[in-house]
Amino acid sequence: MKDFFEKKTLKKIKDSETGISEVKKFLSIKECEEVLSYLRNLSNKSSGISQLVEREESTKIFFNFDQSSILKNIKNKIQEIIGEFYVNDFQPHIITSRYPLRLHADTGKNPNDVIYKNVIIPLEIIYSEKNNSKPPNTIIFKNKWHNESALFTKFANNNYDFIIKDKFGNFVDILNIKDFYDQIKDLSELEIIYEKKIFFVDDKFKKYIKYLADSKRYNLRTDRHIINNIDFDKNDYETYMTHQPYEDCKSLEIDRVIEWEIGKLVYWDRCRIHSSDNFLKNNVVQKTTMAFFTSKTKF
Ligand SMILES: [Fe+2]
Repeated sequence: MKDFFEKKTLKKIKDSETGISEVKKFLSIKECEEVLSYLRNLSNKSSGISQLVEREESTKIFFNFDQSSILKNIKNKIQEIIGEFYVNDFQPHIITSRYPLRLHADTGKNPNDVIYKNVIIPLEIIYSEKNNSKPPNTIIFKNKWHNESALFTKFANNNYDFIIKDKFGNFVDILNIKDFYDQIKDLSELEIIYEKKIFFVDDKFKKYIKYLADSKRYNLRTDRHIINNIDFDKNDYETYMTHQPYEDCKSLEIDRVIEWEIGKLVYWDRCRIHSSDNFLKNNVVQKTTMAFFTSKTKF
């Protein structure tokens, strides 16, 4: 495979790799609530400070650390632990996930950027019922990816897969959203069966699907993470990864399973392949974390 990062940059990246770390109770419950309500209020007001990207499966609210004293303080506290950092290629954000994120690496798009740590601080977990529920986990693999930001799948021949809701509110993976839009755009009926699922098709739904079909994807889709023929551990698959096709996990090996605790700081090298676990089966309705990708390069 052709190297993505410049030779000198890659050396600096590798020299700064430290694995996976966590600091429990880094923020108090009260601080987490403050950050959440501050950012959610701003995005509601659409004041232009905090941009919002709303989808059925996730909501992202972007921010800058210098826009408020709470955020400034958090950045300073993190720098005391991981050292000085810059955020270059994807704005800091809070992300609310209603469907688990799949295998990916947040390595950016710039071959000259000395990428550093992925950082998350879980802020909120909402369960459908308190009984029979378990906290969500972030799964971090031993496998590294020193290439541009990517989503890992064997179905890599197009860049048009999206998770949407069917008529009954269940999430469905549509592999080619453009094909799906072609099927519904001139539909006069209010329902369509597509890939054996039923969708309620009104003008709002058509507009949403068109918006997805027209949106530009940040991550490359690739199966080049599969570097050998070793099958993924069946037990780990059943416990954590059933939201991802089994074949996609070939040659992967789990390093750490990080259980979400509100206010915990978690950071790992940006080259690490990671994903959410399938939290839906543990009665988690949605989970929200602060997330950003740091660099050592100041541009
Ligand atoms: Fe990530």
